[in-house]
Amino acid sequence: MGVLSWPSDSELDRVKKMVAEMGGVSVNVVKIVVSPYRICPLGAHIDHQGGIVSAMTINKGIILGFVPSASSQVLLRSGQFSGEVRFRVDQIQLPKHSAKSNGTMEEYKWGCYAKGAVYALQRGGNELKQGITGFLCGSEGLDSSGLSSSAAVGIAYLLALESANNMTVSPTENIEYDRLIENEYLGLKNGILDQSAILLSSNGCLTCMDCKTKLHKLVRPPKQNAESKFPYKILLAFSGLKQAITTNPGYNRRVTECREAAQILLKAAGKEVEPVLSNVEQKEFDAHKSKLEPDLGRRAEHYFSENTRVMKGLEAWACGDFEQFGKLISASGLSSIQNYECGCEPLIQLYEILLKAPGVYGARFSGAGFRGCCVAFVNSNYAYEAASFVKNEYFKLQPELASHLNQDSAVVICDSGDCARALSLR
Ligand code: GLA
Repeated sequence: MGVLSWPSDSELDRVKKMVAEMGGVSVNVVKIVVSPYRICPLGAHIDHQGGIVSAMTINKGIILGFVPSASSQVLLRSGQFSGEVRFRVDQIQLPKHSAKSNGTMEEYKWGCYAKGAVYALQRGGNELKQGITGFLCGSEGLDSSGLSSSAAVGIAYLLALESANNMTVSPTENIEYDRLIENEYLGLKNGILDQSAILLSSNGCLTCMDCKTKLHKLVRPPKQNAESKFPYKILLAFSGLKQAITTNPGYNRRVTECREAAQILLKAAGKEVEPVLSNVEQKEFDAHKSKLEPDLGRRAEHYFSENTRVMKGLEAWACGDFEQFGKLISASGLSSIQNYECGCEPLIQLYEILLKAPGVYGARFSGAGFRGCCVAFVNSNYAYEAASFVKNEYFKLQPELASHLNQDSAVVICDSGDCARALSLR
C-alpha cells in the first residue's frame, strides 16, 4: 500500500535490458516512452455524448522500451502477457472486427493495440517504413481495471512508432489517432476522455475537456501544502474483476441508449442534428423528458446531472475545496449506479466501503464501471488508514475475489501524474 513513484530506475533498467537483449543492441540506445493511466473524478460516461469531462493521470502506467528495427518489422514482448507479436508496418491493417485473425492467440489478445496504432497512422495518410523492437510493461496489477490501460497502451505504441519514423505529431492529432484505434479498429463506441487525459494532463492539475468542441484547459488548485505537496492522495481500490472493456457489450449498449434518448428529445424539440445528448439543451430535456421510456430517461438524467456536477466540481477544485469536490464525485458515483446502471455488485460494495473510510472526500467507479477498481480522493493524512480499512472491509464482503488480489496492491495510494511522453535518458 505504499505511495508509488513512477517510473522507478529499476523498472526502466528492466525494460531497457529486455529490449537490448531482443534487439541485440546496447542498453544505451534503447528509447523509452511512458504513458500513464488516468482517472476521471467527474464526467463519467458523458464523453461519447459530447459532454464536458474532468480527468487526471496518476503516477502509474505503461512503459514501452524500443529501438527502431532497421526494417518494417515489428517485434514485441510484454511484461504481463506471454507470447510475441510480429507484423510489418507496411502491411495494410484493417479494423480488428473485419480482419481475419490468423495470428496466435496471444497476438490476438494483446497485439491488437500495436496493430491498431499502425491502422490509425495509416488511416491518417502516413506511410510507415520503420518498425520497432519493443518491450511493454504495465504497472503490476493495474491492467484491465478501469484506469484506461487500453488507451495508455495505444498511445505508447503511437508515440514509439512516430519516433521511429521521425514524425512530429501534436497531442491533438494523437487524440484523434487513438480515437481511430478505439472506435474504428477495436469497435468501441467510446468518447475521447481517456486519450485526452493521457496526452494533455499535467501534474497536480485537473484536465477539463469539452468533448464537443475539443477545447481543454488545465485547472490547478490554489494552495499546495509545503510538506505533502498535495493535500490529497488518490486511492485505487481493486475489485478483483478484470476484463477488457472491448469484450463487454454493456458499454456500447449504454452509448446506443444515450443516442436513442437524444433522438427522441431532438425530434420533440424540432431539431435535425446528430443524435447526441450534447445537442439537446437542458431546457429541451426538461420540456420533453416525459416522452422517454424510464430507462432512457435515466440515461439522459445522468448526462445532464453529470455535466452540472463537472461544472461545480471545476469551481470547487479551483478553490481547493476538496470536501465539496469529493461530495460531487460520490454523487457522480451514485448517478452511475442509479441512472446509468453500469456497476456490478463488487464495485458497488467497494464504492460504499470507500464512502465510510476515514478521510475519504469522495469516491466512484473508475472508468466504465463494469469491472476493475473504484477511485477515491482522500485527505493525505488518512491515506494509509483509509487503505487498510477498505482492504479489510472488502475482504469481509468478497473473500473469494479479494483473495485473488495481490495483497500489496489490493488498494493503491498514488499521486497525480504527467502526460504521456518520450523520456530523455542520460
Ligand atoms: C471508458 C471509456 C471512456 C469513458 C469512460 C466512462 O473508460 O473508454 O471513453 O466513456 O469509460 O466515463
